[in-house]
Amino acid sequence: MTDLYAVIGNPIAHSKSPLIHAEFARQTDQDLRYETRLVPLDGFVAAVAAFRAQAGRGMNVTVPFKVAAFEHVATRLTDRAAAAQAVNTLKLERDEILGDNTDGAGLVRDLETNLGFSLAGKRILLMGAGGAARGVMLPLLEKNPHSVTITNRNADKAQALQQQFSRHGKIVAGSYADVADQPFDLVINATSASLADALPPLSPSVFAAAAFAYDMVYQRGQTPFLRFAQQHGAARCADGIGMLVEQAAESFYLWRGVRPDTAPVIALLQAG
Ligand code: ATR
Repeated sequence: MTDLYAVIGNPIAHSKSPLIHAEFARQTDQDLRYETRLVPLDGFVAAVAAFRAQAGRGMNVTVPFKVAAFEHVATRLTDRAAAAQAVNTLKLERDEILGDNTDGAGLVRDLETNLGFSLAGKRILLMGAGGAARGVMLPLLEKNPHSVTITNRNADKAQALQQQFSRHGKIVAGSYADVADQPFDLVINATSASLADALPPLSPSVFAAAAFAYDMVYQRGQTPFLRFAQQHGAARCADGIGMLVEQAAESFYLWRGVRPDTAPVIALLQAG
């Protein structure tokens, strides 16, 4: 029997996940169907229950339900989902619902495996202190960077993240002004600024020689942050398309026990 999966969110129409998972399934010969589920803002928990009753095997959870999936749906959490306080992958089993978060693993795999950027010993600047930033903290720290500096307009939120993760590595937190005169090897944009075509108030002197600039957002054309980075000395730039495909591959692996080949799918999305 064909196994059923879905991505659940609001909005959901533009999700690339059905295309990505269909490619993975074709490539690995897995008999599965992957659909979208648009649910009203107050209908998330009921929709997961209904999907489970339909014998659904797993879901990807996207905006704005990742925290609700963590708080109200998962009956067991992976360490990385517990650290992220958000769930983007549900594995629906007979007697439990496993909640995982594959976003950070997706970012790390894109950086290290696809882009050849090793995180060990690197000075990382992470812009943003919302859910997207929190979701990648543990996987980044597990790669033993020199330090992770968190900067945010609201510096209190950066400090709260620092406290939450301080036992996992060297973390610094501050305002954009606080980090203005320091060089970083990797600058990651985990803010939602690019979605509004805006640029965080970042100093142009944060890019060390050979610095890498990574925007977790992907969109047609370059984001304002990547344009800025290129203009001010970043040696390499990447948007979040690789992260998107890698987090999907990590979900697929959790569900099916098979690792798909991501490179052709990333190329497909880049061409599309
Ligand atoms: P997400 O789950 O995508 O992280 P969020 O929790 O709403 O969404 O957080 C959005 C993040 O983007 C926050 O860190 C926010 O900064 P503030 O906490 O200071 O508001 C950041 N952000 C949004 N627009 C921004 C902009 N134009 N410049 C800088 N940071 C921005």
